[in-house]
Amino acid sequence: MSEELKVPLFDMVMCLSDAMDLLSPYLAGHHKRVAYIAASIASEYGMTKEEEKSIIISGALHDAGAFSLSERIDSFNWKISQDIWNEVEVFDSYPSYEYIGSVSHSELGYQLIKQFSPFNKLASLVRYHHIPWDGGEGATFKGEEVPIGSHILHLADAVDILINRDKEVINQSEKICKKILAESGKLFVPEVVDAFINLAKRESFWFNIVSPTIIRNLKKRIDGSNIELNRETLLSLAKFFSQIIDFRSRFTATHSSGVAVSAEALASLMGMSDFDCHKIKIAGYLHDLGKLAVPPEILNKDAKLTKEEFNIIKKHPFYTYQILDRVQGLEEIKIWASLHHERIDGKGYPFKSDIDDIPLGSRIMAVADVFTAITEDRPYRKGMNKDRALKIVDDMAKDSALDREVALVLKDNYKCINEVRNETQMNKAKEYDFFWRKMR
Ligand SMILES: [Fe+2]
Ligand SMILES: [Fe+2]
Ligand SMILES: [Fe+2]
Repeated sequence: MSEELKVPLFDMVMCLSDAMDLLSPYLAGHHKRVAYIAASIASEYGMTKEEEKSIIISGALHDAGAFSLSERIDSFNWKISQDIWNEVEVFDSYPSYEYIGSVSHSELGYQLIKQFSPFNKLASLVRYHHIPWDGGEGATFKGEEVPIGSHILHLADAVDILINRDKEVINQSEKICKKILAESGKLFVPEVVDAFINLAKRESFWFNIVSPTIIRNLKKRIDGSNIELNRETLLSLAKFFSQIIDFRSRFTATHSSGVAVSAEALASLMGMSDFDCHKIKIAGYLHDLGKLAVPPEILNKDAKLTKEEFNIIKKHPFYTYQILDRVQGLEEIKIWASLHHERIDGKGYPFKSDIDDIPLGSRIMAVADVFTAITEDRPYRKGMNKDRALKIVDDMAKDSALDREVALVLKDNYKCINEVRNETQMNKAKEYDFFWRKMR
């Protein structure tokens, strides 16, 4: 068996984009559609293939920063799309650069995305995706040049928001073109509007936007240069993903990194190969990816959850599975990551997996998750000390919730595992604070 990972970057980006769209049915597919619309405009505008690719990736991630803000971008967009059909002046309320409190989601997205070094350059497309053209004023922002790709994203975003999902897309094209034309030179760059109007003459453009084959279409455009991630780059991408998941709340800001290093330490102590230890660390960073589908009000609730709310929480490992399922080369990582709430007695969630179907990697992940969750500080309590934490893990093992052997390895090596966990989470907390200080 080959000891190297080969994971297509494009698939990973699309899976994150899907994950972000899970938060609301209204958002469903928004990131992909913006990527497609923007790439089509870019090509019509005469941009190079290379530029088009950057636009696809930034389109697929453009609202990544919105997940860490308390305001919800989806409700905002929803209002706009309602307004167009009620003949309200829609763009009056369209997002301006600083529209969410003192920190904009585009700035936040930029700061997050640029941390993954291959995305360093395209991050600025995201940073400026709400800058209005304003008769040419929007060619720069605070002394920095605003890339034309950002203006293209801006227009593409508006087009998608204007599409009413309940109506046939082609029957809306005229009305949407009229709205966009009216903003030429104001919100949007006139030449970009021209390219869009040209493009909009093709029925296929509109049909493609709502077609289930949109991903295939995007993949073709990326074709040939779909970078393959190796174990190192995949790990750094997984870390970047985990920040989008965890930075939604101060109290979970370091969770995935704690789970990742605890799982890695346990795996190593249990004799797993270096390669598998590396993979389990990646799985740790990704295990709660599906939490993007859980509203922050439920995730951060500091009182006991109702039965209905807990049912929503149960979605998250299911979505972790679904999201990772379509990435080639991630099969084992997907299982290790998404079975972290299964129990040895078959009473876990969401699959009620039998003991035989829960591999060691998943059992380790389950222990690492519980251990991290009880030893880290939460909004409603301080992290537990050694005795209390071990008692809980021990009780859960006796109750057949957790694997006994893994629990024993944790007990025997508590000091060193807890040290790496603690140190990693403390460093992550510093990064998080630094990040927000910079943002404010
Ligand atoms: Fe946005
Ligand atoms: Fe979880
Ligand atoms: Fe977790």
